[in-house]
Amino acid sequence: MSALLYIQASPRTDRSYSGQVADAFIEAYRQAHPQDRVKTIDVFRARLPAFDGLAVTAKYTIMHGTEHSAGELKVWKAVESVIQTFKAADKYVLAVPMWNFGIPYRLKQYLDVLIQPTYTFSFSPAEGYKGLVSGKPMLIIYARGGDYSSPDAQTVDFQQRYLEMVFGFIGFTNIRSLIVQPTLQGGPEIAAQKRDAVIAEAKALAAGF
Ligand SMILES: Cc1cc2nc3c(=O)[nH]c(=O)nc-3n(C[C@H](O)[C@H](O)[C@H](O)COP(=O)(O)O)c2cc1C
Repeated sequence: MSALLYIQASPRTDRSYSGQVADAFIEAYRQAHPQDRVKTIDVFRARLPAFDGLAVTAKYTIMHGTEHSAGELKVWKAVESVIQTFKAADKYVLAVPMWNFGIPYRLKQYLDVLIQPTYTFSFSPAEGYKGLVSGKPMLIIYARGGDYSSPDAQTVDFQQRYLEMVFGFIGFTNIRSLIVQPTLQGGPEIAAQKRDAVIAEAKALAAGF
C-alpha cells in the first residue's frame, strides 16, 4: 500500500484548471490503486506556521548546532509536523496556478516551512548540498492564463522552473509535468479544450504512477 500526497495550491477550488486536472488524475489513480491512501493538503486552508523571525531563528539555531529556546521549540514543532506529513508520503501530486510568473504565496510559504536543513536537505563540505527526499515520483499540474510554450515566454516562467529546481534540491529526480495553458488568453472555449486534453493525459498516467 502506498500513500499519495495531493497538494492543492489554487484557492479557486472547483473552478481551478490545475485542480480539475489533478482531481481527474486522483479519481483515476484511486480506481487503479484502490488499496492506496490519498491525503489532500489545500495550502490556502491548511494551518501552516508563519515563517517569521522566530521560525528563521529556530532554523539558524539548527544550522549552528545550538539548542532551541522554548519559543523556538514551539514553532519548530509545527514546522516538523508539516515536514513529517510530507515525508510520510510515497508519491506526490501538485496542482499549481501561475501567479505573477511564479507560484501562489501560500505554496511558497509551504515550501519555506518544508525545506529545512537536516530534514529535507543536508550540507557537508565533503558532499555539498544533498536532497534527503529521494526515490519518490512527483506529478506537477500547472495552469497559466497565458501560453508559455515559446522559447521567449519560457524565460519568464518562474513557476515550472522554480518548482523543478526546488524539489530537485530536496532530492526529487522523477518529476512529471502536465500544463494547462492558456486558461484566460484564448477565451473559455480554448481553455476548456486544453483542460480536457490534459485531463486525458492525466488519466492515462494514473495507472502507472
Ligand atoms: C494573482 C494572480 C496572478 C496571476 N498571474 C499570472 C501570470 O503571471 N501569468 C499568467 O499567464 N497568468 C496569471 N494569472 C492567471 C492564472 O494563471 C490562471 O487563472 C490559471 O488558470 C490559474 O490556475 P487555476 O485555474 O488552477 O487556479 C494570475 C492569476 C492570479 C489570480
